[in-house]
Amino acid sequence: MRWLVTGANGFVGRALVRRLLGHGLPGGGALTRLAVTDLALDPAWTDPRLLCLPGDLTQTDTWSEAFAQGLDGIFHLASVPGGFAEAQPAQARTVNLGATQALLDRCQVQVEAGGAVPRLVFASTIAVYGSPMPAEVTDNTPAAPRMAYGVQKLMAELAVDHASRRGWVDGVSLRLPGVLARPPAPTGQISAFLSNFVRELSQGRWFECPTSPGATTWASSLPNVVDNLLHAALLDTSAMSGSRSLLLPTLRVSMAELADAIAQVYAVPARERVRWCPDQHIEALFGSFPPVHTEAALRLGFVSDGDSPELVRRSLDPC
Ligand SMILES: NC(=O)c1ccc[n+]([C@@H]2O[C@H](COP(=O)([O-])OP(=O)(O)OC[C@H]3O[C@@H](n4cnc5c(N)ncnc54)[C@H](O)[C@@H]3O)[C@@H](O)[C@H]2O)c1
Repeated sequence: MRWLVTGANGFVGRALVRRLLGHGLPGGGALTRLAVTDLALDPAWTDPRLLCLPGDLTQTDTWSEAFAQGLDGIFHLASVPGGFAEAQPAQARTVNLGATQALLDRCQVQVEAGGAVPRLVFASTIAVYGSPMPAEVTDNTPAAPRMAYGVQKLMAELAVDHASRRGWVDGVSLRLPGVLARPPAPTGQISAFLSNFVRELSQGRWFECPTSPGATTWASSLPNVVDNLLHAALLDTSAMSGSRSLLLPTLRVSMAELADAIAQVYAVPARERVRWCPDQHIEALFGSFPPVHTEAALRLGFVSDGDSPELVRRSLDPC
């Protein structure tokens, strides 16, 4: 099996690469080569199966070598996140949409040359639902993104759908919720406070939370998201109905519940250590996530973390 991971040096990408090198694809053939690409790559990655292709994804030369012997699949994770995309929408579009289309076009070339139809697992986002969200979100909730990031991801989903219909890829677009717990870094993710909430409180430190205690959000742990990405790699897509996009199972938790779960798992007075300082913008974007039902993904074998203590526990697990 030959696979490519874009965004391999990102938060999710690094965990996925570690898992792929350690355990391969669950139930799949042996991984003979793993091409990885990102603006910069970890020089400590020396596994002989790795083909390291550092560089800008918007330049096809950066990653075209990954296709040299044919590709069985791609985990397409590279993206410009929400905050940056809103500030620089045109620049973000070259990555979030343009590079996705270029990858799809290259897959078409492989197929038309008689090669295998590659599986494309695309990391989309719940930002496609826009804000405010309806009273509940189900598999039938229409996408209505309001911000550049969500719009670009939705356009990329449609491109994956189209290429799948034409037989140029076998695509699965997963709408990821907030993934916990990202290491602290200025990444442009507006939702980064959620990761900091878990990280800081679990260490017994004080945290200034930019939402109210009753603010509800959707969250999944990094190991859970990696499990689901790997599940998508070998999914029988003939069981999907119509669209190739799926909302991943996730947990809806209030910030107060999250604090209580942290208190339970890490034996710290988490609730007492939070200063609640709601920011209107953040509360509107991340504090009113409605009940969510993901029957389509559950039927296909995708899973959530189960409950909030497990979410909190797995969020800080090395993946
Ligand atoms: N982390 C989350 O909470 C979350 C939630 C919803 C969706 N997602 C999606 O999941 C995927 C992975 O998320 P993440 O948290 O690992 O993101 P991340 O920002 O940590 O990683 C993305 C990677 O893409 C790379 N990248 C950006 N522009 C590039 C370019 N021009 N050329 C090459 N590489 C480039 C970055 O260098 C970065 O390493 C993304 O597509 C993101 O949109 C993540």
